[in-house]
Amino acid sequence: MSELEATARAMVAPGKGILAADESSPTIKKRFDSIGAESNEENRRSYREMLFTTRGAEEFISGVIFFDETLRQSTADGTPFPKLLQKKGIVPGIKVDTGAKALAGAGGEKVTEGLDGLRERIAEYHGLGARFAKWRAVITIGDGIPSDYCLDANAHALARYAALCIEGGLVPIVEPEVLMDGSHTIERCYEVTERTLRKVFDALYDQRVPLQETILKPNMVLSGTECPQQADVRRVAEETLRCFRNAVPAEIPGIVFLSGGQSDELATAHLNEMNKVGGSPWELSFSYGRALQAPPLKAWAGKAENRDAAQKAFYHRARCNGAARSGSYTARMEQEAA
Ligand code: 13P
Repeated sequence: MSELEATARAMVAPGKGILAADESSPTIKKRFDSIGAESNEENRRSYREMLFTTRGAEEFISGVIFFDETLRQSTADGTPFPKLLQKKGIVPGIKVDTGAKALAGAGGEKVTEGLDGLRERIAEYHGLGARFAKWRAVITIGDGIPSDYCLDANAHALARYAALCIEGGLVPIVEPEVLMDGSHTIERCYEVTERTLRKVFDALYDQRVPLQETILKPNMVLSGTECPQQADVRRVAEETLRCFRNAVPAEIPGIVFLSGGQSDELATAHLNEMNKVGGSPWELSFSYGRALQAPPLKAWAGKAENRDAAQKAFYHRARCNGAARSGSYTARMEQEAA
């Protein structure tokens, strides 16, 4: 097995998943605004230190995605964050895209940028300890969209990024996110997700990306947030699995879902239900940002004295999602923690 495949498999090890802590500076400011904390470098550092030093989290967390600033930061006692995680057996990763920008001539649709100079940035990140990377494409469902133009442009960029990662020794997390915003039905989400995935895997094939060394980070197949008829947990699990079995090759070691704005408990329940069904050729795991961080962020509230409570909240969510990896999460686990 290649080193990259071994890393990819470690990222989707049984009972574990990934913490997405790669919020860009504008995004983390939004999160801090919601708890009345100032987004300065020291607050961002100490918030991330609180997460990364949570005792026992490594039982359920296989990898952490950093933002550029965080990869270069250290604990208060001077241990660089990537080194801290390596010591716990957690693989450090890095977001390398530079964000979704307006796609020219596409009337509001977006394309993700960041390919210029990427080879050199990957080399630097590898030197700083990163062993995997992430690139997120954003697909919006609306009247007559997504267009093929938007899907093709994003799939092409994702594959170019992935090929550069492989060359530079990082496992690529390929993230095409079909947003849940909108009044569309679950059937429409299924159709757009399948179309997106097919284009992404075509582009990965065209650009010679080895699938055994690649991790997919997709949305689940859900009803739009404004859709009056919300599909229940069982239906979401069934439609998501059906869609992925149709469009995702079995060579991928794992699928790590994003939470995308689902509540923390619902994101856990959906993953749990899929693993209860079982029989998939890939590991079905999580790479949650908001669904892992919402409770600890709220408990922390920007105050050092809340550190223990925040770590307890983070450990609890990590543990629940760890259980969802084998379909053994129960509502009782939430009550026990309350
Ligand atoms: P959410 O789980 O909050 O969607 O974040 C995951 C992520 O990394 C989005 O790019």
